[in-house]
Amino acid sequence: MKETRILLTGANGQIGTALTKALRNIHGKENVIATDITEPKQENYPFDFIDILNKTRLREYVGDYKVTQIYHLAAILSANGEVNPRKTWEVNLNGLLSILDCAKDFELDKIFFPSTIAVYGRSTPRQFTPQHTSLEPETVYGMSKLSGELWCNYYYKRYGIDVRSLRYPGIIGYDSIPSGGTTDYAVEMFHAAIADQPYECFLKEDTFLPMMYMPDAIEATIKMMESPKEKIKIRSSYNLSAMSFSPAQLKNQILNYYPNLKVSYKPDFRQDIASSWSESIDDTRAQQDWGWKSKFDIHKMTIDMIENLKSEK
Ligand code: NAD
Ligand code: SER
Repeated sequence: MKETRILLTGANGQIGTALTKALRNIHGKENVIATDITEPKQENYPFDFIDILNKTRLREYVGDYKVTQIYHLAAILSANGEVNPRKTWEVNLNGLLSILDCAKDFELDKIFFPSTIAVYGRSTPRQFTPQHTSLEPETVYGMSKLSGELWCNYYYKRYGIDVRSLRYPGIIGYDSIPSGGTTDYAVEMFHAAIADQPYECFLKEDTFLPMMYMPDAIEATIKMMESPKEKIKIRSSYNLSAMSFSPAQLKNQILNYYPNLKVSYKPDFRQDIASSWSESIDDTRAQQDWGWKSKFDIHKMTIDMIENLKSEK
């Protein structure tokens, strides 16, 4: 039997930092290789530099290290994506195609591809968005992720590649500070509260978005990836849900612990992106197919975030 050897791309990012730790706890440190184009902020062995646009290096690496699974996290997120749309398309879509080709040519066991709430658009029902619905994203990030979902489904059907995907909501975690996304305000507000600083929010106070606490995101990812193959019935990407809240609601939660927190609102171009996304998600299919159930609501998440951020201070 082949030994499981996992490669993560984009492993230094917000999700990669937490997911690498979780996968190493399960599969052992040596069997989970973190890669990125940036230097890791903390000790992250085994680590290597891989630019997802360097197809030759990626293929050599996958072959040399006898990789069996890839968690492909490398991407340019929604807000940063609008700065250089062509580059974003190249990294997000061509990067994924290189991974899918590796899966085919090296007969890899499994691939994970994170999709996003950015695949929804203004024609999508905003409340309790169904799994199968109108998808007309307006950002290049959303366009690239939606096309990626379709390519995943194509490689599954045409070549039998076991590729699995989740549409993550905005992820909130304490391990690292996110940047380049539209949902980043939530983590930033926690950090401002703990540093006793005022916070200027780039979204309007009543902008509701689907959100998820990092431990739920990691659990969903591992649960889906470890489910028997026949349970994965959607090969584009599963809707995934935990909570939905606005900046004003998050501020009210944090005020219970940091009553001096001051938040002002100065919407910028990210407001238009957020306004084009759904407010809440129906993830019934993830619940039915592989038993997904979130654990954290806004209240539990706030308590846990504050405890962890305080202990890191
Ligand atoms: P992030 O921006 O924190 O991390 C992405 C990582 O990709 C970075 O470390 C970056 O250096 C790396 N990267 C960029 N270009 C690269 C390249 N050419 N080659 C290799 N690496 C490159 O993002 P994240 O929040 O950790 O997101 C991880 C994945 O999850 C992404 O695919 C993102 O689209 C998806 N996702 C994230 C969220 C969220 O709220 N964080 C929500 C939905 C989906
Ligand atoms: N949180 C991500 C972003 O804001 C959504 O994928 O870009």
